[in-house]
Amino acid sequence: DDLQKEMDEALTRLTDPSDPASERDAAVFRSLYGQFLTEPPTVDWSKIEPLPEGISRDYAQLPQPNAAQAKNLLQQIAVIKLNGGLGTSMGCSGPKSLIQVRKGKTFLDMAIDQIKHMNEMYEVAVPLILMNSFNTDKDTARALKRLDRSGNIRTFTQSRCPRIFKDSLMPVPQDSHDRPDDGWYPPGHGNIFQSMHNSGLLDELISEGREYCFVSNIDNTGATVDLRIAHFLIAEQPDYVMEVTEKTQADVKGGTLIKINDKIMHLELPQVPKDHEEDFKSINVFSIFNTNNIWVNLKAIKRLIETDDMKMEIIVNPKTTSKGEDVLQLETSIGGAIRNFTNVFCLKVARNRFLPVKKTQDMLLIMSNLFRLENGQLIANTKRSIPQMPLIKLSSHFDHVKNFLKRFKDTPDMLQLLHLTVVGDVHFGRNITLTGTVIIVADHGSTIEIPDGSVIGNKIATGSLRF
Ligand code: UTP
Repeated sequence: DDLQKEMDEALTRLTDPSDPASERDAAVFRSLYGQFLTEPPTVDWSKIEPLPEGISRDYAQLPQPNAAQAKNLLQQIAVIKLNGGLGTSMGCSGPKSLIQVRKGKTFLDMAIDQIKHMNEMYEVAVPLILMNSFNTDKDTARALKRLDRSGNIRTFTQSRCPRIFKDSLMPVPQDSHDRPDDGWYPPGHGNIFQSMHNSGLLDELISEGREYCFVSNIDNTGATVDLRIAHFLIAEQPDYVMEVTEKTQADVKGGTLIKINDKIMHLELPQVPKDHEEDFKSINVFSIFNTNNIWVNLKAIKRLIETDDMKMEIIVNPKTTSKGEDVLQLETSIGGAIRNFTNVFCLKVARNRFLPVKKTQDMLLIMSNLFRLENGQLIANTKRSIPQMPLIKLSSHFDHVKNFLKRFKDTPDMLQLLHLTVVGDVHFGRNITLTGTVIIVADHGSTIEIPDGSVIGNKIATGSLRF
């Protein structure tokens, strides 16, 4: 109670009375903080029940609409890309969506190309909407000036919340202008619904006759508008649909769905008690994970926001400031919103709807001949005879996009690659073919240069071996 009171006083100092957005943001943070102080951080493991079968659907069983139906469906849909994040984890400054991923095309270019192509093909005007954060707003607006001359792409900005000190649990900034560089954060993509409402976008879409929004991470290059899913939505009228896909050893940390206290809940690692982390990561117990491709009914969002009933689990994200202070960010996720809706589905989709780029090793896949890029959409190469994508692990020398690009003169042929691990300081030449399992380990202090034209199949190479 004391902390909440102290925080309320601090939030008054942090609010700029001349800026209505700052007042709304303070209300968002107040609610996050209240939940943080009162809710247990982890779930009671003994209360978890398996998902009821009725809420699962298999994408493969959904009927395909015809062209006339497609046009009608698309008129009821809006596409929102989560664009609040920066490219820092890949060593880039500025919005992640402006990183070039394939042949000079950025994530944003790809999203624009996809929508443009679809709108032309079906003679519709599905809006492309970006949820920016204060971190990405300016740079995105600048890019859109160039890319979207007709001004069709809409944007809205999510909330800006104060980081808090880990020990005192009080805000880092002292007023709304204090610590612009490291005192504030966007409170996760769970903030989307409140921000859609605050910005007026929610009412705007509803008044245009739109029924559903399709939300996805802008870095998920597999998140295309899918007509079979749209058809399913309009036929069944669910409130909220989460696309999930089969978990592999590579995605043990992804969120999953459970039933608990008679509700469907999105369970993520931070809500798992320490002694159950291995259970959570098991791909046998929790066989599916959230792709963060989410379809939500706009009127259902409006109902929940207007009755102030939208709550998601708090994710506490620890960070260190440039001054070395330990701080916390209180965030929520869009997956976490599932617990608020009554009519929900978990839709099992193929892996090709989840092609995220979190690291440069993901980028290598997407740049390669495993795909071709057509109207902003990545299409898998049918010549690959192995069902899964290759597992790629690059050393930290490749972490930054700039270094990664320097170390691959061009993208190797990976059509029949199963697994590539690179350890240490390695440089790849041109026209290289990798097949099967390839492990390259440069000894500490030495460099391996793989010559142009090398064909490497099922090989472990260490030291300064030449091929
Ligand atoms: P991240 O890349 O940060 O998260 O954001 P993640 O590692 O995939 O894990 P999840 O999905 O959060 O579980 C995913 C997407 O959400 C956007 C990012 O720009 C990215 O497209 N995002 C994230 C926001 O728009 N706002 C936020 O506050 C956080």
